[in-house]
Amino acid sequence: MKVLLVGGGGRENAIGEALVRSGAELYVVSKHRNPGLARLAKDYGLARETDIEKVIELARGWGIELAFIGPEAPLERGIVDALEEKGIPAVGPTREAAQLETNKAFARAFMEKYEIPGRKLFRVFEDVTEMRSWIDDFGKPVVVKPLGLTGGKGVKVVGYQLRDNEEAKAYAEELIRRDGKVLIEERTDGVEFTFQVFTDGKKVIPMPLAQDYPHAYENDEGPITGGMGSYSCANGLLPFVTREDYEKALETLRATVEAMRKEGIPYRGILYGQFMLSKDGPVIIEYNARFGDPEAMNVLPLLRTGLLEIAEGIVDGNLGKAEFENKATVVKYLAPRGYPTNPIKGVKVEVDEEAVVKAGAKLYYASIDENFTLLGSRAIAVVGIAETQEGAEKIAQSAIGHVKGELFYRRDVGTRESVEKRIGLMREFGKEFEPNSC
Ligand code: GLY
Repeated sequence: MKVLLVGGGGRENAIGEALVRSGAELYVVSKHRNPGLARLAKDYGLARETDIEKVIELARGWGIELAFIGPEAPLERGIVDALEEKGIPAVGPTREAAQLETNKAFARAFMEKYEIPGRKLFRVFEDVTEMRSWIDDFGKPVVVKPLGLTGGKGVKVVGYQLRDNEEAKAYAEELIRRDGKVLIEERTDGVEFTFQVFTDGKKVIPMPLAQDYPHAYENDEGPITGGMGSYSCANGLLPFVTREDYEKALETLRATVEAMRKEGIPYRGILYGQFMLSKDGPVIIEYNARFGDPEAMNVLPLLRTGLLEIAEGIVDGNLGKAEFENKATVVKYLAPRGYPTNPIKGVKVEVDEEAVVKAGAKLYYASIDENFTLLGSRAIAVVGIAETQEGAEKIAQSAIGHVKGELFYRRDVGTRESVEKRIGLMREFGKEFEPNSC
């Protein structure tokens, strides 16, 4: 089957690999030629992922039978609707359904209307005076978020980026003046985790949980990035997420899919729940309408079921099964020095691919071109897979030494110490639990 993949990051390299492994003839459109995908693809078109007309022109020229959309930006532009209009079924939500990610006001109002379990208290304000007096009455620490797609940027939390609710009010006022509105939420204390599921609009199939490391520097310091790495455990849980927490979070995602169907906006594709585990259980912080990057690289290499079969099930509305190997994974991303604020670009890096494979790791390319020139964002990911997290981390760590250049990475991603730190944090936040082994 001829399958079009839209997007050219590490996430898409993993999606492309899983599609080819399951028998797809792969065609890719992205704004740069990803060297990993270029090897897998029968043909490659260079275009912005949001240039829907161009994507459709290329897809029709290739005789594409099924499309798979990697990033959120083309979903926001309605690429799935446009492809389907031309008779090309696509994995990913329609423009309306993708609002779960692309329109925070929609997502929050929807959660309220359907009483989705695990939701947070929130308000959207357009009026500065109303916003200020609500925060004063609320009294507890808040989170201030811009509405719409910001790639995680612009979110500020009292106690972290904001000193107190006074600073929160000033920042929220700035956003109202800039964007016309602002989202204010109660702050939830806890540790974040990622829960990704496949859905055909009715059935929901869970993937192993993962934990992302969004900060640029070790010890969870520095600016927020797209994610410098992530890990997952062989049992599909995380050391600090109990089976009961897992079931509650899954119930949130199931209730979301069910409610979207009731709302008349069926949601098909990958649904990503960003949860905060509080002492009282998981709270949904955000939805994403696509795989996580790097989290796709934790789960896709473990798929025992063909991704092509899953993709067909999603678009046909008869999703069957999706089974995963019971293994732990650790993903470490290499990014250009200076990323995310002032990344080095245009310099070459060296990758000893043979040595990476010899170390037992997988290698995925992201923001780097076919001449191995850095393009400014996260460039290369290595993935260790083993029976235990410790084993997976060792593999990723030994492989990363075979990539040389003006790059940096977080040594602490997936290490025992960093996981112990997260377990300790959960205890500090008042959760009583016995950690799972990983
Ligand atoms: N790693 C976070 C995300 O993909 O949104």
